Amino acid sequence: MTMTQDLIEAVKDEVIGWRRYFHKYPELSFQEEKTAQFVYETLQTFGDLEISRPTKTSVMARLIGQQPGKVIALRADMDALPIEEENDFDFVSQNSGVMHACGHDGHTAMLLGAAKILTQLKDQIKGEVRFLFQHAEELPPGGAQELVKAGVLDGVDMIIGTHLISALPVGKIGLSSGPMMAGADTFKITVVGKGGHASQPDLTIDPIAIGTQIVTNLQHIVSRYRDAQETLVISVTQFHAGSAINVIPSRVTIGGSVRSFNPELREKVPAFIERIVKGITEAHGATYEFDYQFGYAPTINDEEVTRLMDETVCEVFGEESREIIKPIMGSEDFSAYQKVVPGSYIQIGAGSEEKGIIYPHHHPKFTVDEQALQYGVKLFVHGTFKILNLTY
Ligand code: NI
Repeated sequence: MTMTQDLIEAVKDEVIGWRRYFHKYPELSFQEEKTAQFVYETLQTFGDLEISRPTKTSVMARLIGQQPGKVIALRADMDALPIEEENDFDFVSQNSGVMHACGHDGHTAMLLGAAKILTQLKDQIKGEVRFLFQHAEELPPGGAQELVKAGVLDGVDMIIGTHLISALPVGKIGLSSGPMMAGADTFKITVVGKGGHASQPDLTIDPIAIGTQIVTNLQHIVSRYRDAQETLVISVTQFHAGSAINVIPSRVTIGGSVRSFNPELREKVPAFIERIVKGITEAHGATYEFDYQFGYAPTINDEEVTRLMDETVCEVFGEESREIIKPIMGSEDFSAYQKVVPGSYIQIGAGSEEKGIIYPHHHPKFTVDEQALQYGVKLFVHGTFKILNLTY
């Protein structure tokens, strides 16, 4: 325990330095070339790791212990967002219009820190630790499913992912067993009517009048088609039509987002929507086009892995650090790993009212309290030992 503590203390400043480097040079999803190269080269300096590039902008490192045992995977995402940063610290983004506004800079730095420490503790490792530096979490279809296809989970028993969260204060670790983050799907509807002069609606098939009925009726799915115990959100977020004030247009496009936890309900939603679209357009003599895309699946935390991590949190940080959190309606491609192996996705508190670190994720002033980074490193290291069932 104390030895691990010393190693964590020794790597603390380096982790902050890495985070600042990533923050300064953010890269968008699927374009994380310099980030991946930096990670690759840094991992090389640790020695004793088998390092590879499963895809163009991702990195995997394997730490293989002396004796056989379980295989644990630890995951960090590395991509930034298309946001113009409004912070003014000295490591502010140098890439105009691109910003680490979700904390993935910190995730990458924490996992590097954990890799450095665990490499130094290699003699004590039974089994294998696999470090996954994933690209493209922010942009569906996402990097996780590409890594799964590339075989990074072959032989893996369990996976742990963490996310820095500014809404949770530093020192708190958010755990949740079962549903953790929602599945996120999207739809696009085009109502095809017949355009004409605003003064002669009888000669048109007005897609705006029809489209607005579709928008209201979609909420009928939430209020009347769904089991009241199940969570479902349907949000219409786009409604595009028309150009001139005196013209009834011929088409309307409607777009929206659907969030849910229950896989069976999730599967049914496209048919529910299409039934409403078909019925309303038919009733008024219009036609339609309908496209539905399944995005990230719900993130469902495995009970056993979460229990082991819960124990780890209580042992390492004390019970006061442990926060049982409610599921959130955001989504995450960590779910792609959880389809293959049991895993737990854990929140690391990174906010601080005192320091003004209060902005939500994806905000131009978002940042994390760097004190949070050592919590993440510690959780990765101790969680690994807990799961590989070692003494420390
Ligand atoms: Ni994120």
